[in-house]
Formats: sequence, C-alpha cells, structure tokens
Amino acid sequence: MSGRADPAAPPVFEKRVLVTGGAGFIASHVVVSLVKNYPNYLIINLDKLDYCASLKNLETVSGKENYKFIQGDICEPDFIKQLFETEKIDIVLHFAAQTHVDLSFWHALEFTYVNVYGTNVLVAAAHEANVEKFVYVSTDEVYGGSTEEEFDESSPKRPTNPYASSKAAAECFVQSYWERYQLSSHGAVMFTDHISIQKNCIHGSGLQRRNFLYATDVVEAFLTVLKEGKPGEIYNIGTNFEMSIAQLAKELIHLIKKTSSESEMEHWMDYVKDRPTNDLRYPMSSEKMHNLGWRPKVPWKEGITKTIPGAVGRAGPAQPKGLGDGSRAQG
Ligand SMILES: NC(=O)c1ccc[n+]([C@@H]2O[C@H](COP(=O)([O-])OP(=O)(O)OC[C@H]3O[C@@H](n4cnc5c(N)ncnc54)[C@H](O)[C@@H]3O)[C@@H](O)[C@H]2O)c1
Repeated sequence: MSGRADPAAPPVFEKRVLVTGGAGFIASHVVVSLVKNYPNYLIINLDKLDYCASLKNLETVSGKENYKFIQGDICEPDFIKQLFETEKIDIVLHFAAQTHVDLSFWHALEFTYVNVYGTNVLVAAAHEANVEKFVYVSTDEVYGGSTEEEFDESSPKRPTNPYASSKAAAECFVQSYWERYQLSSHGAVMFTDHISIQKNCIHGSGLQRRNFLYATDVVEAFLTVLKEGKPGEIYNIGTNFEMSIAQLAKELIHLIKKTSSESEMEHWMDYVKDRPTNDLRYPMSSEKMHNLGWRPKVPWKEGITKTIPGAVGRAGPAQPKGLGDGSRAQG
C-alpha cells in the first residue's frame, strides 16, 4: 500500500446534510450557500418538484461534487426510511411544505397531509437513523396576527389559517420528539416574508403589514442556528422592518416601471377579494437570535434593488391549480 488516497475512490464527507424542499425559494438559497461554504459536507437536496419548485437557482451548484439532488416525496415512509439508511444522514434541515396560504383555505387536507404527516414521517425516520440535528422550519404565522403585542418564542400558537395551523401542528410533532427521545431538534425556526414578483395583486385593502428579510440574511440565520443553536429550542428569525402590502406594491412599481405618479401606480395595482382571514401584522422579537450573534445585515433598499433586476423577466415558478389571480402569497 502506498498510503496515498485513491483518486477513483468516492469522496468521504465530514457530514451529510439533508435539505428538504431545496428546490423551493428559501431552501435553494440555503443549499447553494451550504454547497459553496462547506466543501467537506455533502448536501443532499430532497424535493418532490411540486408546482412551486425550480431547479434554476441551483444551477451554480448542480455539478459540484458535494451536491446531490434526489426527487422524492417526504410523505412516503418507506422511501424516506431507505433514504436515511443509504445516505447516512447526520443533519436535517426541513423546509419542504405546502406554502401557499390562499390555497390552504381550499385544500386544507392536502396541507395537513404534506406539512403534518410529511413532517412526522421525516422526524420519525430521523429519530430511527439517530441523526445529530433536526431543524424544522416553521413560520411566524403560527402566532396568529397581532397589532401591538410582540411575539416571542414562548408566545402561544394561535394560527388563523389552515397553512399556519398545519405548520404549528408539525412544530408540535417535532418538539414531541425532543421531549420523548431528546432527538436533537432545533425546535422551530420562523422567518418573515419574501417577495414573489409576478403581478401586483392586492388582497383586500392592502393595509396588512409584513416584515421582509433579504435571502442572504435568512441563509445566515439558518447557518447560525445550525452552529450555535441549542437543541430543543425555538428561534424566531425576523426583522423590525415592516411595510404594508400596498406600499410594497408601490415600491415595486416605482422600481420596475420607473414611475412615481400615484395614478400610474394605482393602474398597476389589482385589488382582489381578501382571503377568509388575513392577519394584520406579525410583530416578533428576534432577541434570541441576536443573542446567538445573528442580525440582518442587508437594508430593505439595498435588498430590493438587488432583487429586482434578477426577478424581472425571469420565469417564476408555476402557478398552483385553483388560483386565477396570478398571485403567490406565502407564509
Ligand atoms: N417564504 C416565506 O416567506 C416563508 C416565511 C415563513 C416560513 N416559511 C417556511 O419556509 C419553508 C420554505 O418556504 P418557501 O417559501 O421557500 O417554499 P416554496 O413553496 O418556495 O418551496 C417548498 C418546496 O417544498 C417542496 N415540496 C412540497 N411538498 C413536498 C413533498 N411532499 N416532498 C418533498 N418536497 C416537497 C416543493 O417542491 C418546493 O420546492 C416552508 O416550510 C415555509 O413554511 C416561508
């Protein structure tokens, strides 16, 4: 034996990380960052490639040795069990979900199936496979809306739509694995809205206020939770910066159509019937994340200016069946 590494031998990775829903908006940014910054880790992207998925964001890493894409469904227990056995997963970052809030009112059972049953399938397989860490990605919507009261991680869950209810229920399943088996779950992580630029379609008055974080800040938050987070804990990832949906639409029209004329802006805004429930605000404290050393770095103006050129003219994800207004409102 010469003692030299065999160049034909498959690479040995320090950790094997499973990211579910990695072809979705948020997780695709997380996958790209992990692949680029952790060459010693194998990043496995498991995604069903549902209507909202796109492999476009992943093109920069698709040929990398430490990246692997697997098309599959978290709701198939045998497949998931086998995946944990063959891939020898150490860490799970669970993003996969049905996320379209509007659709959840009409397809609540499907949301329960994917978000609750699918999460239970995944966390059970992770427990059996003895994984090191399981991070479940939840949503600020589990707290329900509030005008004044600021939510923190101990606030009660009061979801007001089927999407948020399914995310809250799934969170409970993950937490119960921590309580029962001490599965090192980093509880739930919530973060705030992203912008999907397709059509300026406003639900109801447009006075609902939302918080916006730039994608790289969200990615850094997840990396911070992975490195610094304590098992069994919940971390709120958010920002104090908030804006009404109508104001957001105007900012986008101003940037894209290069106009400041109120009447021209109104022309590009399409007011549609509101959802059955639409929370006014989600004020949330992220102090626990700040104590881990994370804070958002990209100010709104800079983030939106960077987002617009890439988003305009780019084919967005496909529209879900059952929605005719061209909007993609998510939680
Ligand atoms: N986008 C936001 O503003 C926001 C805010 C708070 C929380 N979240 C949470 O973050 C996560 C990601 O959100 P997003 O907006 O990027 O979602 P997204 O809809 O863009 O992506 C979801 C991904 O999950 C995949 N998927 C769906 N069902 C699956 C299944 N059964 N098996 C495997 N893959 C499946 C889809 O194909 C898609 O690629 C979700 O858990 C969501 O609840 C998002």
